[in-house]
Amino acid sequence: MSILLTGGTGFIGSHTSVELVKSGYNIIIVDNLSNSKRDVIEKISSITGKNIKFYEADITNEDSVDEIFKTNKIKCVIHFAAFKSVGESVSNPLKYYHNNINGLLILLKVMKKYNVNNIVFSSSATVYGDGNTLPINETAKLNPLNPYGRTKLMGENIIKDYINSSENGKCVILRYFNPVGAHKSGLIGENPNGKPNNLFPYILDVAKGIREKLYIFGNDYNTPDGTGIRDYIHVVDLAKGHVSSVEYMLDNNNSEKVSIYNLGTGKGYSVLNVVECFNSEIEKYFGLNPITYEFTEKRPGDSSEIYADSTLAEDNLGWTCKYDLKEMVKSSLHFLVKFK
Ligand code: NAD
Ligand code: WQD
Repeated sequence: MSILLTGGTGFIGSHTSVELVKSGYNIIIVDNLSNSKRDVIEKISSITGKNIKFYEADITNEDSVDEIFKTNKIKCVIHFAAFKSVGESVSNPLKYYHNNINGLLILLKVMKKYNVNNIVFSSSATVYGDGNTLPINETAKLNPLNPYGRTKLMGENIIKDYINSSENGKCVILRYFNPVGAHKSGLIGENPNGKPNNLFPYILDVAKGIREKLYIFGNDYNTPDGTGIRDYIHVVDLAKGHVSSVEYMLDNNNSEKVSIYNLGTGKGYSVLNVVECFNSEIEKYFGLNPITYEFTEKRPGDSSEIYADSTLAEDNLGWTCKYDLKEMVKSSLHFLVKFK
């Protein structure tokens, strides 16, 4: 029996693949490579010492998904495949609704046909929107502020309704905070196409000299240094949260049909904290530039401060974060100098 990872060559999927294989699971990856590269499969194999079964296919194509389920014994699905750029979702919402919602509907339809009853879903802290009490727990008000976030909340509701209607179904919905960092091998990490939207990839471009400086979006937020505060989580800790979720769902007879967990560290860091941490590490790397920055306008839709209460995941999944901000920064720089 195998675990199918949709979007498994992506940033979070590739790290989760490694952790699942290390924990003894058989995995199958399906990805259309719209935001990742085929060589990630060899890299996962090289880290784990195992061959990885890979399908280059689009999950919005029902025949392709059906073929995968027909020819493999699948026990459980981890559904990563989605588009994730907030800005693009505002300018091209239909692209996001088509991929993120149609893809999920087709996946669930085929899972139902082949009696595959377990799914872990990649949701996001973005479903909370703004104005909640900190740290945010899973009962906070849900109010996504953009089409991308709305596809995630709709995805949660679709899965919940489907699982509640099924006799044996179980799902774990994971709301990730800000995943960053890279595997210690330096072989896999975050490698977005084009100009990065997110803080870590943008800083890495500045370190490499691809971009001149970081533009910090706002310095008069109501935070100690005026810059935005986020809950950055090391992608390897996040990946382990998926292994814990799969174990909880498959091995625990008392697990809930529908469970929802925040995955974050519970600690918030400002943009300036992150820049300082990079600058203290960058000097150890020959050929990388220090991170210079300029304050600029706030980015529309940004909240001042958000960090997680992840105690529910800790209590029910037995999961905790191991890595701190310094490790997130060091592993990102290692990936940058080794492979990017
Ligand atoms: P990613 O873009 O690196 O990985 C997604 C993968 O899905 C890519 O490899 C892409 O090629 C693939 N994909 C997209 N549409 C597909 C389709 N129709 N068929 C097959 N493959 C398809 O993104 P990521 O950062 O690894 O994110 C994984 C999941 O986690 C996404 O669902 C995302 O919304 C969610 N998430 C990400 C973050 C974050 O900050 N990275 C935060 C919260 C939630
Ligand atoms: C972090 C901080 C910015 C870039 C996004 C999505 C969210 C989730 C994670 C998927 C903020 C500041 C950033 C820059 C800056 N993804 N910043 N200059 O906005 O918390 O979350 O990624 O689900 O849905 O919205 O992450 O990395 O973009 O920003 O000053 O060039 O860095 O204002 O305070 P964010 P981010």
